Amino acid sequence: MPEPELDIHLDADEWAPQLRNDVLEGLTSSPKTLPPKWFYDDRGSDLFDQITRLPEYYPTEAERQILHARAGEIAALSAADTLIELGSGTSDKTRVLLDAFTATGQLVRFVPFDVSEQTLIDAAKVIGEDYPDLRIHGVVGDFERHLGTLPSGGRRVIVFLGGTIGNFAPAQRRDFLEQVVATLNPGDSFVLGTDLVKDSGRLVAAYDDSQGVTAEFNKNVLSVVNKHLDANFDPDTFEHVAVFDEENAWIEMRLRSLVDQTVHIADLDLDVSFAAGEEMRTEISAKFTRDRVADELADVGLDLLDWWTDTAGDYALSISTCR
Ligand code: SAH
Ligand code: TRP
Repeated sequence: MPEPELDIHLDADEWAPQLRNDVLEGLTSSPKTLPPKWFYDDRGSDLFDQITRLPEYYPTEAERQILHARAGEIAALSAADTLIELGSGTSDKTRVLLDAFTATGQLVRFVPFDVSEQTLIDAAKVIGEDYPDLRIHGVVGDFERHLGTLPSGGRRVIVFLGGTIGNFAPAQRRDFLEQVVATLNPGDSFVLGTDLVKDSGRLVAAYDDSQGVTAEFNKNVLSVVNKHLDANFDPDTFEHVAVFDEENAWIEMRLRSLVDQTVHIADLDLDVSFAAGEEMRTEISAKFTRDRVADELADVGLDLLDWWTDTAGDYALSISTCR
């Protein structure tokens, strides 16, 4: 079995100035924000993995159900020999696709791509062991900036699972989709997982679970800032908030300061004051309809080939192709 290949486009030297910029910009704007990509250090990735197993967090199992039902069709429709996965994390559900694609003998290469280096290395290693005939080529990078560095060649399918597309703001989502199209050749395909608009009670519960794992995950971004920018956030003085914004059709995650306080961020030489009750936005998770997904794909030149939901109609997987 060949060792997995690994490209690193985001090492510590690149990471640090980006984190500084994002935190400085976010904490000096009004209302304050912190950008989501910084959730996924080793602890954050581990907490997200726990989220995927929570009873309230239905997207993971819904997506797995669709993958089981449709993996063969996805392999046939895409006819791909290279499977690229963006925001791959542990690539756990992706095994359902890898099984279907290897069963036909068509798959040559698997390219997991994630910002979280250790998670990616671990995933590439175990998948390499379990699929010894595949070439594994991992990429550590930011999918908003480094799609141009994806290995070229072959008939490709890009998969983007977990509803992560919902974590972009609308303008960034369009930029991202344009970059996806720019990396595809005509006839290549794009498989996208999207969570669907539904009853707000279930949506909120999925982002505010009873065991408090999502709260820990949200607060972990404060520990990331403490560790890398020498700040003194006390996570216990913030509480996790999840609300469904009906108008924008997105879940908004926030951290609410429980007290009046000033936080010092030594590496930025910055003091940031929070009033008791003040909320800082950390993440959105947009929810979709079929029309909205089809329109947004068409806007960037992707034609919807098929659309599948789980039996409950909670979550959808689509496959589209590049004109
Ligand atoms: N695909 C998995 C994980 C989804 S969580 C699933 O469906 O369960 C989102 C993943 O995207 C995490 O692994 C996180 O590290 C990664 N991620 C978040 N922002 C990213 C960015 N800007 N560039 C690359 N990966 C990113
Ligand atoms: N892509 C996941 C989603 O939007 C990420 C996620 C799940 C998340 N739970 C979260 C992000 C809680 C921040 C906070 O469903």
